Amino acid sequence: MNAAARTNPSLAVFEFLDNTHREIQQQLQQLHRLVDAIENSGLNQANRAQARSVLAYFNGEARQHHLDEEKHIFPALLNSQNAQIVQATEHLVQDHGWLEENWIQIAPSLEAATNGNLWFDTVELRHALEVFEALYLDHIVLEESIAYPAAKQRLAGLDTVGMGREMAKRRALKNAQLPD
Ligand SMILES: [Fe+2]
Ligand SMILES: [Fe+2]
Repeated sequence: MNAAARTNPSLAVFEFLDNTHREIQQQLQQLHRLVDAIENSGLNQANRAQARSVLAYFNGEARQHHLDEEKHIFPALLNSQNAQIVQATEHLVQDHGWLEENWIQIAPSLEAATNGNLWFDTVELRHALEVFEALYLDHIVLEESIAYPAAKQRLAGLDTVGMGREMAKRRALKNAQLPD
């Protein structure tokens, strides 16, 4: 957290959301490297561990990030008087649904990979990943260029400490529910 974020809690929330976007981009790169590695050398221990790690990220933190936005960022924007902001936000909400649908097409192959099961077609997996990545990257650009700047203005002075607390609590509850 930088100095400005420490003195302004709403900046801390947005810094966290921005950082998550960078993490998502890194995980998409990891996923590309994983598909390359599986194509080149099949399923060894390292590839299986990498599949487990990427699977956990998109099943866990990426979905939590969408919830952060749906609970704390999008509602204020959907109430905006600015039609362009409302329309962009409706688009973003719809994207979350498409991203979930795309992820559901990718996850079973990665689950198989974690178990050393190579029943899936890596060409199809790569194609699904390209669709998922293109949508995610466009989505992030729209959030960072329109939604987050508008939300920063609208949420200034509101209870962003409460937002951050709910985000942390939801993750703690989720982790407590995970099997050992
Ligand atoms: Fe989003
Ligand atoms: Fe986002």
